[in-house]
Amino acid sequence: MMSWPPHMAPFLWGVATSSHQVEGNNDNDWTEWEACGHVPDRSGASCLHYEKYNQDLDLIAQVGVNAYRYSVEWSRIEPEPGQFNPDALDHYRAMTESVIRHHLEPVITLHHFTLPKWFARQGGFFHPRAPWYFERYVQQVLATLGDLARFYITINEPMVYAVMGYGTGQWPPGHKSLKELWQIAPRLLACHRQAYHQIKLRRSDAMVGIAHHLLAFEPYNEYSWLDRQNARILHYLFNHRFIQWAQNTQDFIGVNYYTRQYARHRHFLVPVMHKPGHLLTDMGWEIYPDGLEKILVALKRFDKPLLITENGIATTNDGVRQQFLLDHLTAVSRAQNQGVMVRGYFYWSALDNFEWAEGFRPRFGLIRVDYDTQQRSMQESAALYRSIIDSNRDHWPLNVPPKPEQRVFGL
Ligand code: FCB
Repeated sequence: MMSWPPHMAPFLWGVATSSHQVEGNNDNDWTEWEACGHVPDRSGASCLHYEKYNQDLDLIAQVGVNAYRYSVEWSRIEPEPGQFNPDALDHYRAMTESVIRHHLEPVITLHHFTLPKWFARQGGFFHPRAPWYFERYVQQVLATLGDLARFYITINEPMVYAVMGYGTGQWPPGHKSLKELWQIAPRLLACHRQAYHQIKLRRSDAMVGIAHHLLAFEPYNEYSWLDRQNARILHYLFNHRFIQWAQNTQDFIGVNYYTRQYARHRHFLVPVMHKPGHLLTDMGWEIYPDGLEKILVALKRFDKPLLITENGIATTNDGVRQQFLLDHLTAVSRAQNQGVMVRGYFYWSALDNFEWAEGFRPRFGLIRVDYDTQQRSMQESAALYRSIIDSNRDHWPLNVPPKPEQRVFGL
């Protein structure tokens, strides 16, 4: 296992995006899905980040972060099997150079939900040669970016990808099959492992991980033994099983944390989203900062450095976003005080963007985007994030300021 590189910033303060959600004008399995009417909006031009990345990086640098997590789009890089597009590769190289010029550590995701159409048509990760296809693509990315970028996330949220694409069928390929849901995870793992070794071959000091979506599962009725057991099973199957499988091929564990869900024995393995009366975000997700502390503390058993690769809120009320940020960073510092090795925090998202099943309605950005004019404007929460970062550059554990004025409600 790699230890944390000694010359690295003591803490990666970042923001995150993914290619399909911000770039605009993509052509992949998701755009096909959108064209079939599965999503209220089509991603279309989105934020035009593919063209405007320099301008966006100027703004991101103003937030005061020292890292940027973004993904490279497989469908642009390999639009046809085995045919690699030099323009797309040049683009990501120029963009990564610009990230570095902006004094940001690049953290590159190789697969963030979208697939080239040719690969999706052949069954995607169920294709018997999927690990080999994925490795061939990763090889090209490393040949292009390997000297510039040290941090790689092979797969974003394998369990969400499995559940949404093969369990509930709400995302492409839209299958609802218990059997496929069960079988897809080991396939993703095989692709991850192959990519991990390929990256290490090209760059032995690379830091490679997976971004896992972790949910704080709790019993609906804490006095019910069956609900408690159901929560434990969900926690294992959804949160920890994949991490355990990939134990020897992760230099860090990426944590995407958003919310809590409730386990109820009457709905075995199908969690309930929230209880009546809870504060919800514009995604309908409960705001539950304590869950982040619990999730982080529970990861201690894996004895790996942790990067919070996503945490954020969809809201049009920026005061609520500020409170969210403070409360979640306070939860991180509580976890650090219990000996958890948290090495970075990435707010989701740098910019408002296209959300997978909801389209453009949810607003996650520290930077607001007017989709009609493509104008950007900084939210107040970006200034708050900056002030927290400034007072914690070398602070360990994090020292998050007490809450300003009073709590902000009104979701
Ligand atoms: C995560 C995804 C990310 C974004 C946020 C809101 O599950 O990784 O792309 O959609 O949720």
